Amino acid sequence: MDRRLCLITGASAGIGAEFARQYAALGWDVALTARRAERLDALAGEIQEKYKISAITIAEDLADPAAPARLLATLAGKGRHVDALVNNAGYGLPGTFFSTSWKDQAAFIQVLYTAPLELAHRVLPGMAERGYGRIINVASLAGYAAGSAGHTLYASVKAGLIKFSESLNAECQALGHADIHCTALCPGFTWTEFHDVNGTREDTNKMPKWMWMPAEPVVRQGIEAVNRGQPVIVPGLVNKGMATLTRILPEPLGRAMVRSQGKRFRRIE
Ligand SMILES: NC(=O)c1ccc[n+]([C@@H]2O[C@H](COP(=O)([O-])OP(=O)(O)OC[C@H]3O[C@@H](n4cnc5c(N)ncnc54)[C@H](OP(=O)(O)O)[C@@H]3O)[C@@H](O)[C@H]2O)c1
Repeated sequence: MDRRLCLITGASAGIGAEFARQYAALGWDVALTARRAERLDALAGEIQEKYKISAITIAEDLADPAAPARLLATLAGKGRHVDALVNNAGYGLPGTFFSTSWKDQAAFIQVLYTAPLELAHRVLPGMAERGYGRIINVASLAGYAAGSAGHTLYASVKAGLIKFSESLNAECQALGHADIHCTALCPGFTWTEFHDVNGTREDTNKMPKWMWMPAEPVVRQGIEAVNRGQPVIVPGLVNKGMATLTRILPEPLGRAMVRSQGKRFRRIE
């Protein structure tokens, strides 16, 4: 198979579906995974027809700890290896650490943190052997900002993904894998199904429109960043400005700001 393959998690909607469209438009084959098989199949049909590439669909629930290994075994069974990995699947878990079950928190960590790390760990040896690899971890602007009440572990796992991406990118360079790059993509508010799924759409609809970006430029800037070897990218001027603010504001002020604004998009009941 001549074409490179990009594996995209959470490809049934939003940012993941946009990654599928953009990698396909660049002439890559894509492997699409998420739980909703019919959505994946519809997207695969659309982009195969439009871009004349091959799109593989694999329905998996990443909350299952066996899913990452199974996903890659399925691809290997089809004779395919992963040249680019987009760890994108994610959601927000409303409520507080008090009000949520450990089962739900553990599943959250599995989907948003452990599965991305395991997938990266499993694809890296092949990337090193072939001398080429791209890994994009979809983190969030929330990984920069102070933690706040509600959706307790969201900022933690996204901050973890940012640090992991920086370290892995540095390791690849330090070990001489010059053409293996890893990037954390840190979107701010992006028009997708994310806020419908976590039940905050009514509140987030009240946020000013200038704070929002469509998925298209978010994804485009992520792909451009990983290709030039940039370890972290915050897409869009408004988001860049907010990321800078979190760095220059004194910490107590930053916390107070997130505390007051967080009420607008995080549910604590
Ligand atoms: N939208 C924003 O404002 C925003 C901002 C910053 C960061 N992000 C991050 O961007 C990423 C993509 O989110 P989005 O905005 O595109 O949201 P979305 O439209 O709701 O898409 C989320 C994707 O994740 C998949 N997913 C959720 N749980 C899964 C599970 N257990 N196993 C496998 N796949 C699962 C969903 O597929 P199925 O339901 O079919 O499984 C869907 O394809 C997330 O990591 C999110 O944290 C979003």
